[in-house]
Amino acid sequence: MDAMNSVELIRTRKSVRTFDGRVISQEDREKLCSFIDTIRNPYDIPVTFVLLDAAENGLSSPVINGEHLYIAAKVPKVPHCEEAFGYSFEQMVLYAWSLGIGITWIGGTMKRDIFEKAACATDDEFMMIVSPLGYPAQERAEVDIKLRNSVHGDERIPYSEMFFENNFMSPLTEQIDALEAIRWYPSAANMQPCRVVKVGNVFHFYEKHTMGYKAKVAWNVQKIDLGIALCHFLCVARGEFTISDSGIPTEEDTEYIATVKM
Ligand SMILES: Cc1cc2nc3c(=O)[nH]c(=O)nc-3n(C[C@H](O)[C@H](O)[C@H](O)COP(=O)(O)O)c2cc1C
Repeated sequence: MDAMNSVELIRTRKSVRTFDGRVISQEDREKLCSFIDTIRNPYDIPVTFVLLDAAENGLSSPVINGEHLYIAAKVPKVPHCEEAFGYSFEQMVLYAWSLGIGITWIGGTMKRDIFEKAACATDDEFMMIVSPLGYPAQERAEVDIKLRNSVHGDERIPYSEMFFENNFMSPLTEQIDALEAIRWYPSAANMQPCRVVKVGNVFHFYEKHTMGYKAKVAWNVQKIDLGIALCHFLCVARGEFTISDSGIPTEEDTEYIATVKM
């Protein structure tokens, strides 16, 4: 995916929860599988994808309709596994979207144990997220419309509240395409925890923990969101990825994640 193509994919992608019932074509399936083999993340942590037939494995989600296939992914239980997972899974999502395949990140609205068993997740791995894969239906099912409305799926935090210059006191006024690309990232319950402070040509990424939001899983779901944000940024602007906190003062609810130097 080149940068121009990425901007378009990032800007048009939406969670698809209603599918038209068609089975994914063999050609699209092969393309997706070949692409998955090329996916890497800046943490160099392997993320393994598994395609799962819904009927064969008894898989479903109360918010999804018309799907035949799911994709699940697993990551070793190591530091930064959430960000690495988010980064790699989002690459798969954007590529699938380029083929006209719809997806929805699902971390909550599913019977987790059934998916974990189907994906053969071991004790050393987290199977954090699954997604249906299918062709979007013309009209959305009622449960889909309701869910989308409840999380305000079409809305995003304003640029000036996400991006800052030099410190968290000064909103960034310069419009930067790679930052705009972050605004359209999917995030759990659309909470959008990513914040970025630009200092010259260096971009520091932070997670602003959403108060009271805690999923019942052993990992930090909002760090997955940060991995997705990093993926969008680095799809649009190439840069050197590091983890080294510059010590910019933050509020207690805000945690340093990573830095990208242009
Ligand atoms: C880590 C993660 C977990 C999510 N879990 C669910 C889920 O369990 N069920 C669901 O319907 N959507 C889930 N979503 C999708 C978000 O609700 C959706 O991305 C957000 O509302 C923004 O909408 P959009 O993806 O159409 O831009 C999840 C997204 C992320 C990134």
